Amino acid sequence: MHIAILAGDGIGPEIMAEAEKLLAALHLPALKLSHANIGGTAYHAEGHPLPPDTLQLAKECDAILFGAVGDPTCDSLERNLRPEQAILGLRKELGLFANLRPAAVFPGLESASTLKPEIAREIDVMIVRELTGDVYFGEPRGRRETGGGRREGFDTMLYDEDEVARIAHVAFRTARARRGKLCSVDKANVLETSVLWREVMAEIAPEYPDVELAHMYVDNAAMQLVRNPGQFDTIVTGNLFGDILSDQASMCVGSIGLLASASLGEGRKGLYEPIHGSAPDIAGQEIANPVAMLLSVAMMLRYSFDMAQQANRIEAAVAKTLNDGIFGSDMCGSASTREIGDAVIARL
Ligand code: NAD
Ligand code: IPM
Ligand code: MN
Repeated sequence: MHIAILAGDGIGPEIMAEAEKLLAALHLPALKLSHANIGGTAYHAEGHPLPPDTLQLAKECDAILFGAVGDPTCDSLERNLRPEQAILGLRKELGLFANLRPAAVFPGLESASTLKPEIAREIDVMIVRELTGDVYFGEPRGRRETGGGRREGFDTMLYDEDEVARIAHVAFRTARARRGKLCSVDKANVLETSVLWREVMAEIAPEYPDVELAHMYVDNAAMQLVRNPGQFDTIVTGNLFGDILSDQASMCVGSIGLLASASLGEGRKGLYEPIHGSAPDIAGQEIANPVAMLLSVAMMLRYSFDMAQQANRIEAAVAKTLNDGIFGSDMCGSASTREIGDAVIARL
């Protein structure tokens, strides 16, 4: 089990320290951890947010644990040197096109949600976000000046049918293993990419007669997610819409510090990371919620190493910790990052 540890920027190292403590506490056989720089930290140390040695390690290892990237001191750098390019580059280079972002309320913790408890209680959704296409990677993109020296910025929203089909198959299989309901989210009333997306989803649906496919426009989906999140089982959507809807789903559960993710490609290798960012506003204070990072370890054990039992143990220990009232300021509690990590390990 060769795991690349890429802690990154801001709260990344603080939450990764808890993940490493958790890995040690599990006493896994044949565990090998390799650390490397990523993001703003890598830019400052090696001149590039995704240095060649880090990329090489990411290619060689069996799985990647990723903290977060993003550093305000890098905000004015040219785009290809910005910390965010590191995570975008890893996803693209490793072909990690399928991003699974589960959002489920912890029983007993309904009051952590910003929704009414009786509405929050119902949330148990898997967001399947396409991760290597869309307006994130479409070409051409750039800036230009029009006549009269006026500035324009432009991006290209683009999906080809193969990209849609492969995420569709992941989503149908995911829904099949859950409650058999798949909601494809798009903006087909306005966007050509979405018309194609919807077409391909519908073409593949007959291969999964046991899954019920529905379509929803993204603006409505954003509304339905806070009106009645319990209606969703599995959501499949493009890169940009999935980014936004998953941050929103995190507050339906109770905090952005709670949601983990798995980024998967064709093989078993995966990159596992919280859905949140480097949270520069709270970095260095030891108050970041490490739960999303710890649950990312659980997802790694489940998806890359077939260790469902160990994953379940971690998830149960996290649920118990939260139920025992041990959480931080993001959930109106007072525990520190370290105290939460220790509490989870004690409950393993
Ligand atoms: P963010 O997710 O970092 O933070 C948003 C808000 O949530 C902040 O108030 C932050 O304090 C809070 N928050 C986030 N994680 C938390 C945690 N674990 N515990 C407690 N509170 C938490 O988003 P942002 O502020 O928009 O972006 C900050 C930087 O992170 C930017 O540079 C952005 O590009 C980057 N970013 C990186 C990733 C990633 O590495 N995958 C994801 C999102 C944003
Ligand atoms: C995420 C982040 C990234 C994204 C950024 C940092 C590039 O917001 O992983 O959700 O937009 O995919
Ligand atoms: Mn995001």
